Amino acid sequence: MSGSRARVDAREKVMGAALFAADRVPDGLLHAALATATVDRGRIAALDTSRAEAVPGVRLVLTRLGEDELRPAGFLMADGFAFQSLQPLTTDRIAYRGQPVALVVADDPVAAAHAAELVEARYDAEPHAVTIDDPGATVVLQQEAIPLPFLADIVVGDADAELARADVTVDAVYEHPAQNSAPMELIGAVVHWRGDTLVVHEGTQNASSIRYGLARQLGIDAERIEVVSPYTGGGFGQKNSLQPHIGPLAVAARRLGRPVKLVLSRPQVFHQASFRPVSRHRIAVGADRDGRLLAAVHEADQQTSRHDLFPAMFTDVTSRLYGFGAFRGRQRLVQTDVQTPGYMRAPFEHPGAWAMECAVDELANAAGRDPVELRLANDTTQDPVTGRPFSSRYVAECLTRGAELFGWGKRRPEPATWTAADGAQVGWGVAIGAYPVATTPAVARAVAYPDGRFGVEVDGHEMGQGIRSAIALLVADLMGVPVDRVSVGLGDTRVAAQHLTAGSWGTSSALPAVHAAVLKLRETLGGRAPAGGPVAVSASNGLPQPMLERARTGLVTLAGPVYDDFVAFSFIAHFVEVRVEAGTRRIRVPRVVSVADCGRVASHVTAASQVRGGVVWGLGAALRERLEVDERYGGFVNATLEEYPLTVNADVGRIDVEFVDRPDRLLNPVGVKGLGEVSLVGVAAAVANAVFHATGRRVRHLPITLADLL
Ligand code: MOS
Repeated sequence: MSGSRARVDAREKVMGAALFAADRVPDGLLHAALATATVDRGRIAALDTSRAEAVPGVRLVLTRLGEDELRPAGFLMADGFAFQSLQPLTTDRIAYRGQPVALVVADDPVAAAHAAELVEARYDAEPHAVTIDDPGATVVLQQEAIPLPFLADIVVGDADAELARADVTVDAVYEHPAQNSAPMELIGAVVHWRGDTLVVHEGTQNASSIRYGLARQLGIDAERIEVVSPYTGGGFGQKNSLQPHIGPLAVAARRLGRPVKLVLSRPQVFHQASFRPVSRHRIAVGADRDGRLLAAVHEADQQTSRHDLFPAMFTDVTSRLYGFGAFRGRQRLVQTDVQTPGYMRAPFEHPGAWAMECAVDELANAAGRDPVELRLANDTTQDPVTGRPFSSRYVAECLTRGAELFGWGKRRPEPATWTAADGAQVGWGVAIGAYPVATTPAVARAVAYPDGRFGVEVDGHEMGQGIRSAIALLVADLMGVPVDRVSVGLGDTRVAAQHLTAGSWGTSSALPAVHAAVLKLRETLGGRAPAGGPVAVSASNGLPQPMLERARTGLVTLAGPVYDDFVAFSFIAHFVEVRVEAGTRRIRVPRVVSVADCGRVASHVTAASQVRGGVVWGLGAALRERLEVDERYGGFVNATLEEYPLTVNADVGRIDVEFVDRPDRLLNPVGVKGLGEVSLVGVAAAVANAVFHATGRRVRHLPITLADLL
């Protein structure tokens, strides 16, 4: 296999030829910086920009924009385009620490940053709540607050009655902290006007939300907005919509008649972009004498902001992990004074599965059953919630193959009985994960050129996950040509609509459209090279026309995971070894085995990377990552890469990845389900279960640190 077949953009990236948003340097570029609120809640009483304006090189200080210049773009989850409804600089209300209060534009970035520090604000501060237990936080029942059918509590049978008659039960509360995705590419944009046309370069997962959101904000036709994002340096959900800085940048660029660039600092990313909110999970599970799971209850509380209800969907996945006879879910939202949280890599599936898979491990232990065996005994081919079949489900294969690769048969059943030669306690843990398979509208245009080259343009954003490689490989294989004869255009509103790429639906949405377009192209060509000029055809991935229309206006639209005839999820099993060092009680993870069921594997190299990345992130969630809130002033105290402890190479041992690799033909003709996010789901539980096996201590919060084991 040639290098280019492994990852088609590898060379471009390694050579620095791949252009990210902040790499764009149009002529006459000016630089912007933000001044931000130092209180968590209240009103701006006075703003003095005179010292900022006096800094040499400062061109403009924007504070409050009127309705005629900038309007809010609306909340992504309420038919809007932004990760939160609040648009800074259009209100004097302060809703979170770090909210922008002024945008400074200057000739160079140093002058802009210096001037931003000299903006003087006085606030009328009000009492604020930053934790979900603060008496000032407001708790709402999700299904009443947001009466949408897909957000209603999942209730199947009488779970509480079933639990009452169970022979073995576990009933416990699991706490998940807030986290930030901290993608390598900071959030930022280069914005300029070409005549009447606004051009936006921004690393994004959702170019169409920027286009249509800005159209709403600025009151201009979306046809006059171009969003260009061929590469995004990590999205993870944090770049899934219009960011609040782009509208003000567009206004500044128009007023000054010059291109303007803004790159948020790392602490600003932590305070101005969405993050994984705090969640708390009460799980009750019960089994009969034979280890058959009778029922589960999952009651979850999730943090949100005062101004938006970021909906929780934890129980959509936990209810599907096993063939529960009965299930009762209940989800509440807790409003605190913070920017609106959002989707961060397996946003509900990771915290939900962490809680449920710890509880199932506790149950296996209480019942004296092997945790792999108990899981296999409770697998199902039918969705417990809808009664429909799964389109494909190879959980048993993932568990069986994973156990074999890991050597699970040699595990000692009793916890805290295994000590290595160096005195470290050794523990082995297992957990499974699932992730919904959604499909979103995608339209592909395939072109054959007379010189034997092929081009395809489609909805999709390359965030490092390898979608460009998966697309190029499919086209090359279908046309029977080397992959270097295929070019792929995506992440650019000039070539396709660019609906949101998230939810691990990128490949399963784009590939079927590309597949359909290329088959059509093959038929049109009839085995001959195009004579005269290029031949182009278009095709969609077959979603209904109204969905295609809605997607074309930049609004979120998706099908699944419940489809007419089946329910679709991707699955995974993780096996983890931990070693708890004797003196320090430091937890090390020398090895992990993960086996995934994602349908057909579209690109082995990028797929295996996705799983390793998910595992690394899961180790971070289990052992390191936690945003520390500042109860005095709001916001987060560890908002830098020095103080927010991400997993580093020294924390990661061996990770072995395998795939079931069986196409899911019910779902789409290419047979792909989706992979990215399921990789992370269950990792933290497998670590926690291994820590219990090593030490006999059950830790029900994350991260698990040495302090928990001293
Ligand atoms: Mo992902 S959290 O769905 O971008």
